[in-house]
Amino acid sequence: MSVIDKKYADMFANSAAWYERGKNAFAGGVTHQSRFVAPFPTYYEWADGPFKYDVDGNEIVDYVMGNGSLLLGHNPKSVMDAINSQMGKGTHLGGATTHETRYAEAVKRNMPKLDSVRFTSSGTESTLLAMRIARGYTGKDKIIKFYEHFHGWQDYATIDSGQSTGGIPKATLDQIIVLQADIKAVDNVLSQRDDVAGVIVECNGAHFGTFPLQNPTFLHDLQETCRKHNVMFIMDEVITGFRLSKGGAQERWGLDPDITTMAKIMAGGQPGAAVGGKKHVMDVMAKTGDPIHDSSKRVAQAGTYNAQPTAAVAGIAHLDDIWNTDVIELADSAALRLKEGINDAFAKNEITGHAHGISSLVQVNMGYDCDCDRNICTMPFDEIYRSMPNEKTGALKRAVLVNGADGMDWNGMCFVVSSAHTDDVVDRTLEGFDQALKDLRTDGIV
Ligand SMILES: Cc1ncc(COP(=O)(O)O)c(C=O)c1O
Ligand SMILES: [Zn+2]
Repeated sequence: MSVIDKKYADMFANSAAWYERGKNAFAGGVTHQSRFVAPFPTYYEWADGPFKYDVDGNEIVDYVMGNGSLLLGHNPKSVMDAINSQMGKGTHLGGATTHETRYAEAVKRNMPKLDSVRFTSSGTESTLLAMRIARGYTGKDKIIKFYEHFHGWQDYATIDSGQSTGGIPKATLDQIIVLQADIKAVDNVLSQRDDVAGVIVECNGAHFGTFPLQNPTFLHDLQETCRKHNVMFIMDEVITGFRLSKGGAQERWGLDPDITTMAKIMAGGQPGAAVGGKKHVMDVMAKTGDPIHDSSKRVAQAGTYNAQPTAAVAGIAHLDDIWNTDVIELADSAALRLKEGINDAFAKNEITGHAHGISSLVQVNMGYDCDCDRNICTMPFDEIYRSMPNEKTGALKRAVLVNGADGMDWNGMCFVVSSAHTDDVVDRTLEGFDQALKDLRTDGIV
């Protein structure tokens, strides 16, 4: 047995037992594909600040951070106070609420390019609705997306996003045109076809920026190309929203999308999400009194839990903190410390690999000599695949876990940093990362 596998089995013995139950409880053993770790997932019971605690009593420095939804770490006081203040006052009020209106105002304050919004309960629902709005507004059917870009698990988003397309009708898959993130390719397709409703993009590049876009140039060019061909420019800000700046990628890089999708940070760790956009576009959802428009042209949306009160108050508190305090700067500087420390560890151990990334997202890749500026990586798309196949990514994730930290894993690892990651916590992570590299070397992975 390898060193890492032995440490993993010893450290997470109770998790192994829980997986035996999980295998019987869940189709495929887990309830979210990203929670699976080979040979068994780690099971958590509670979390606080930058830490989470598993069923074996291990304290793990958490860089999954609610799959990117927790910018202030676990249990930020403002968000907990807001949720607690709503407890006992109803979890569904069966009508319009003051909470949802204040929530929409908070979203619009942070993202002033949005004229109006609609709430959903997840990023998946938001990208589904955004695509429907684009189709309803333009009267066209096709959507362009990019290879590997992940927009949730709805039928139109699944193709070429790293997910299986089983169970999705071919007619649905045929509505999606998948392109490399290359402006010329987009321009060519849009020059040749007149059936495209919109282009959707994961603003920081596929999978939290694992496959980085050369921003801000790429997004600016994409916006211009969409305008030139009169198609909707849809910015998926589920990851970047309220992280890359108070107003997300669009504020950071001065963009003006037709439609924006948001989730994660905007709901402070509760299930909440939204779509927003230009008034003339979003108004395709409004009733006009014209029976033909209202019954067959209007874009409809429902959702029992849209802006559900605890999600709404949590979201308002999170967005207020982001607006009023320096949490973004704190998270960004913790991420910089982590990124530099990881690059030092690669150099010190003479292992090929590097960390890159912007804002509070740190991407780690092993096995490719890259001369990028460590912010926006220039590694070729195919090299990212080649250098970090599933087995190597899995080994890195396990090596990091047995040395006391956890992060997202997809063709490498992504450490999602929060304002709760103090210098001490980052330094402790770096000590663990150094040992993780040594373990990987002992096991012959690097
Ligand atoms: C860019 C992007 N869009 C959409 C989604 C889907 O969001 P949710 O998991 O809330 O459905 C995700 C989830 O990770 C995402 O990263
Ligand atoms: Zn690089």
